[in-house]
Amino acid sequence: MSTVDQKVSVNPLHPEFLRQAYRPKEIILPTPEEVDRFAAETVIEQVIQKPNSYITFATGGTPIGMYQLLAEAHRNGLSFADVVAANLDEYWPIDTSHPASYAQFMRDTLFSHIDIDPRNCHIPHGDARNQYEEAAKYQNVLTQLGKPDLTILGLGPGETCHIAFNGPGTSIDSSVHYVELDEETIEANQRFFGPGESVPTGALTQGVANILNAQKIMMIVKGEGKAWGVNRSLRGPISEEAPASLLRFHPDVTVIMDEEEASMLS
Ligand code: PGA
Repeated sequence: MSTVDQKVSVNPLHPEFLRQAYRPKEIILPTPEEVDRFAAETVIEQVIQKPNSYITFATGGTPIGMYQLLAEAHRNGLSFADVVAANLDEYWPIDTSHPASYAQFMRDTLFSHIDIDPRNCHIPHGDARNQYEEAAKYQNVLTQLGKPDLTILGLGPGETCHIAFNGPGTSIDSSVHYVELDEETIEANQRFFGPGESVPTGALTQGVANILNAQKIMMIVKGEGKAWGVNRSLRGPISEEAPASLLRFHPDVTVIMDEEEASMLS
């Protein structure tokens, strides 16, 4: 994955690398369904404690089960009316009503099932004419919103260790930016597109610095082929080569995973 903000090498003199690293809390549950439930309960607790929470939402296969449980919580009386939402990323270019666009994904899997105010749901515009201008605009939106109370993340496939669309080599200082997608990510995301349809070649993504700006981070690790990446991220060297390892510079990270994904943890 190439980014516009390539500070690729691991510079041991970089001030961020001299900061204290933390140990994320690890929650290992027997099944993916239990992971969904635990993650949903975390979000529900957040919204009960602070009804106007600002939450960063993720897309992909990982959070779908959790979103179904949040919709169920709403049917059982939980209100999201005051919640503010900002998404991690969006393909570019893409029509925002395309079923695989993250804007449509969020409407289909969560927002149309809860009482959140659509005016409080922020996501980069995949149909913007200029990707760099849109990245700057979305960064402004995030700056206005301030510090998320909770940021939800998945983990990228294989050896990418990506968080949002921040692949290997993304700077810890990165803000919202445009990235060209690598082959592994395109292949992994092909399943969301119709036969014969191509995955867009790029995306707009929150940067690592945006993610680390949250009060609290919850990374959900589910799906096939994440075991190597979760071990690399939690036990390997902290470096920009494995963006998820940079989460260990944040003092309040919880990683929720099923036993299969935890099987390679050393
Ligand atoms: P997935 O993707 O949830 O579809 O596995 C996660 C990610 O790429 O961050």
